[in-house]
Amino acid sequence: MSKKLRCAVIGAGAIGLHHIQGFQKHPDAEVAAVAEVNPERRAEAVAKYALPKGVEDYKELLKDKTIDAVSVALPNALHAPVATEAIKAGKHVLLDKPMATNAREAQQIVDAWKEKKVVFMVGQNFRFNPETQKVKAAAAAGELGEIYHGRAHWLRRSGIPRIGSWFTQKKMAGGGCCYDIGVHLLDCLLHIMDNFDAEAVSGVTYAKFGPRGLGDGSWGKGEVDPNKPFEVEDFAGALVRLKGGKSAILEVSWALHAEKGKDHGVDIYGTEAGASLFPAMIHKAQGKEITSAAPVLETLPVPEERMVHFVDCVLKGVPPLVKPEESLKLQKILDAIYESGSTGREVRIA
Ligand SMILES: NC(=O)c1ccc[n+]([C@@H]2O[C@H](COP(=O)([O-])OP(=O)(O)OC[C@H]3O[C@@H](n4cnc5c(N)ncnc54)[C@H](O)[C@@H]3O)[C@@H](O)[C@H]2O)c1
Repeated sequence: MSKKLRCAVIGAGAIGLHHIQGFQKHPDAEVAAVAEVNPERRAEAVAKYALPKGVEDYKELLKDKTIDAVSVALPNALHAPVATEAIKAGKHVLLDKPMATNAREAQQIVDAWKEKKVVFMVGQNFRFNPETQKVKAAAAAGELGEIYHGRAHWLRRSGIPRIGSWFTQKKMAGGGCCYDIGVHLLDCLLHIMDNFDAEAVSGVTYAKFGPRGLGDGSWGKGEVDPNKPFEVEDFAGALVRLKGGKSAILEVSWALHAEKGKDHGVDIYGTEAGASLFPAMIHKAQGKEITSAAPVLETLPVPEERMVHFVDCVLKGVPPLVKPEESLKLQKILDAIYESGSTGREVRIA
């Protein structure tokens, strides 16, 4: 190996630090710099991970020809503008979820990526989970038969990231729990179903806890302004009609009067067997009984760490596990959930 892949992380908040750690796990990658507007968090990241450089303005890193790749761990509204700018600057880009705060901006990323031919991937970490990979492999091998329905849920009882932070401001977050955690499990479900082609979406959104100051979960490092109104949803539900007469249901909350212990999961139903996460199980008819067993897979198709996989995509030409077109289609579904929630009508997706 000649030169290591020189990566830079943009945003050193809660998840940006995970990005740094992730890249540092790859023997052929190094974190060359971090960009963070908050001076304390910038200095902390540089010191903790022994980084050569910390800058305030990410544009400095985009101009730096010695940096090969950047990962974006910024508030949602900055995802698409910064990712697009980075791609146009010729950098390989790993972007945290959600891809954007609307499909128009997500499309701009894809357009830039098609022109520049760099590696671009939204780091949907649930796809890299070993359990997900086992069920995906079973589904891809045809073990479930024809998959016709799936459901995904993430029902936090008290998990609003931080009331008053950017997460609860419409302009910076775009949306609430649906963009924040619904995006993870819907992506995971549609990945296993191998169907991101939605035809119609019927969705609902509610804000029943946040506006009352209830349901805080204390995640994140960004500044909190207690005077900011809670502007996003803390519950969302959707029925997604998929191509080929298939369907998917999503239920997601940041805060809910829900039973304890049923936090998050994915269920897939096929003609030959069903499957569920987490843990990974295959459910299959044996005579009159349905029996359940864990799927066996000796070697995972891709590493568990998304940053390690991303580096392999750049250095070894491995195809990205998360394809830009899939992320764009997912963004259109999420947008349709919000549109349907506000209009009260089913939204058709072209
Ligand atoms: N994949 C996951 O499991 C996962 C988990 C949590 C968060 N996220 C995503 O990661 C992103 C960041 O979330 P977080 O929890 O780290 O938020 P955070 O508030 O903890 O961190 C965001 C950081 O970005 C910095 N920042 C803001 N504008 C900047 C700019 N122009 N240049 C440089 N730095 C800037 C802030 O100062 C802050 O430190 C969000 O989009 C979130 O959805 C993903």
